[in-house]
Amino acid sequence: MVYIDNLVAQEVLDSRGNPTVKATAVLSDGTVASAIVPSGASTGKKEALELRDGDERFFGKGVLKACENIEVAIADELVGLSPYNQAQIDNILKELDGTPNYSKLGANAVLGVSMAVARAAAKSLNLPLYRYLGGSNAIVLPTPMLNIINGGAHANNDVDIQEYMIMPIAFDDFKEALRAGAEIYQTLKKVLSEEGHSTALGDEGGFAPNFKNNIEPIEYILRATEQAGYKPGEEIKIALDAASSEFYKDGKYVLEGEGKEFTKEELVDFYASLVEKYPIASIEDGMAEDDWEGWKLLTQRLGDKIQLVGDDLFVTNKDILAEGIEKGVANAILIKPNQIGTVSQTMETVRLAQRNSYRTIMSHRSGESEDAFIADFAVALNTGQIKTGAPARGERTAKYNRLLEIERDLVFGEYIAKELFK
Ligand code: PGA
Ligand code: ZN
Repeated sequence: MVYIDNLVAQEVLDSRGNPTVKATAVLSDGTVASAIVPSGASTGKKEALELRDGDERFFGKGVLKACENIEVAIADELVGLSPYNQAQIDNILKELDGTPNYSKLGANAVLGVSMAVARAAAKSLNLPLYRYLGGSNAIVLPTPMLNIINGGAHANNDVDIQEYMIMPIAFDDFKEALRAGAEIYQTLKKVLSEEGHSTALGDEGGFAPNFKNNIEPIEYILRATEQAGYKPGEEIKIALDAASSEFYKDGKYVLEGEGKEFTKEELVDFYASLVEKYPIASIEDGMAEDDWEGWKLLTQRLGDKIQLVGDDLFVTNKDILAEGIEKGVANAILIKPNQIGTVSQTMETVRLAQRNSYRTIMSHRSGESEDAFIADFAVALNTGQIKTGAPARGERTAKYNRLLEIERDLVFGEYIAKELFK
């Protein structure tokens, strides 16, 4: 019987140069596999806790305690167990911590181990990770949401909306969809630079110049799309992540780019006018995580026209999602494993969403690494969509490139963007 022989942890760097956890699982059959935990900037209040040392190293952001928790407390419990029962492993992690948000061991320690064990198990069985986690039903290549203009907490410009993404929908496979995305990205770079804009990049690889307001980036993206030879609306849709909790102050939405404070009703009107005018297929965190009333208004107004995604709102938590389903709030959920803490809990949340016809979007964090776990995870769970930044910068392309590999390997792979966004 193969068992977990050892767990090793190391402090490594993420794409912003901050420390993060790399966990390695060593199995008794000699298999060694690692995973690196990502880290967000515009985090939801109810996310699982990212344990940081808080001392002088790395301005308090060190993760040596989380690493020690892996090598001592967690290893004590898991060494000797079978790596092939992910639910059992994850349950033990949950019980060992004992808090609802992993504030004892740190969700960064817990998720690192959860992912490393899954990857080691897959490797030792000679299965690709997506097949190990998803079984024979893992077939859907996700529609990418490519973030090509960055604002908000991910950039130094005065754009309030955090992410302007393109979704290549009218394509037969992932490879061609990604090509369209990359061609539009390159064309956008040319268009911006011709008009004297900076083409420096934000945290997720999108361009991050200053714009007149929050609408101008959409106009640039439409121009770049056409210049690259694609039809906006028909072939390419736009998706926004407002990350509006970041600009929600004292019950008002303060948009610096518009030079205006919006009430929830006015903000809903603003989004409705954008949807009227532009080919927008998806808005994420249109309303703040604490503004459930605003979320209800938004869902009533636009819920049957476009995808409304809860990120900070649901924080990949199945109990909060259940509340949202009951109250008729949003119609899609962003899935970030480090918001909830383990591979199994992430799967539970995805299943709950799918049973209730809420769309699911696997997602990276703004602080990422070369680890492409979420690419496999998206296919394993047939999430249908993935958000993993611009088609540029190694930590983002690692995921897209892994999906290219998976698509090549899959005999019955399906790219269902046309069906999802007709
Ligand atoms: P974060 O941003 O990783 O900084 O939280 C991603 C998002 O808001 O979707
Ligand atoms: Zn978001």
